[in-house]
Amino acid sequence: MKIFADTAIVDEIKKCVSWGLCDGVTTNPSLIMKSGRKFEEVVTEITQIVDGPISAEVVSLDAEGMIKEARPLSKIHKNIVIKIPMTLEGIKAVKVLEKEGIRCNVTLVFSANQALLAAKAGASYVSPFVGRLDDIGQDGMQLIEEIMAVFSNYGFKTEVIVASVRHPIHVKQAAMLGAHICTIPFKVIEQLSKHSLTDMGIKKFLDDWDKAKK
Ligand code: E4P
Repeated sequence: MKIFADTAIVDEIKKCVSWGLCDGVTTNPSLIMKSGRKFEEVVTEITQIVDGPISAEVVSLDAEGMIKEARPLSKIHKNIVIKIPMTLEGIKAVKVLEKEGIRCNVTLVFSANQALLAAKAGASYVSPFVGRLDDIGQDGMQLIEEIMAVFSNYGFKTEVIVASVRHPIHVKQAAMLGAHICTIPFKVIEQLSKHSLTDMGIKKFLDDWDKAKK
């Protein structure tokens, strides 16, 4: 499973790259706002740090506006992927953009039917939001299971990006379901490496090593 950094904070992305844990990056308008930086400036900087797909989201609601935003964004770097919201206008834009060779990531996906429409439009990626479904008492990971089954039934090439990840259990479940990609907030990427028994084990080995040297 590929790991994407779900952040627009450059220092976090640099750390993930230094660990070899950054196959790509996803941003959205809220993450850009949190970074405190200008959209195009920060996205351009990310393309210089990460050699993998980098999602940049459009804000227009009509297909024509989305396409108009997407074309210059895609020219920033070959790795830019255009994030398009899951609406009928979005689907219309995806069809046009993918035909032009501009890769799209259909975002804000909350049902298998929405993912089916995105795949039929030829989207390179689809982003189901597991955490936001859990937040309203629905089962986010069940949606991933459904989408993986639908895509496998028809051999769609669209890759599933498990998004809105809140904790390491989401990551483990995404991997167990065979999701192609999991986009993960920085704090959760750090958590993936941790276990209290690992820390206790290291301490015990070092204590015993000191004793062995005496
Ligand atoms: C990534 O593509 C999504 O925009 C992001 O994972 C959304 O996460 P949130 O639900 O925590 O805002």
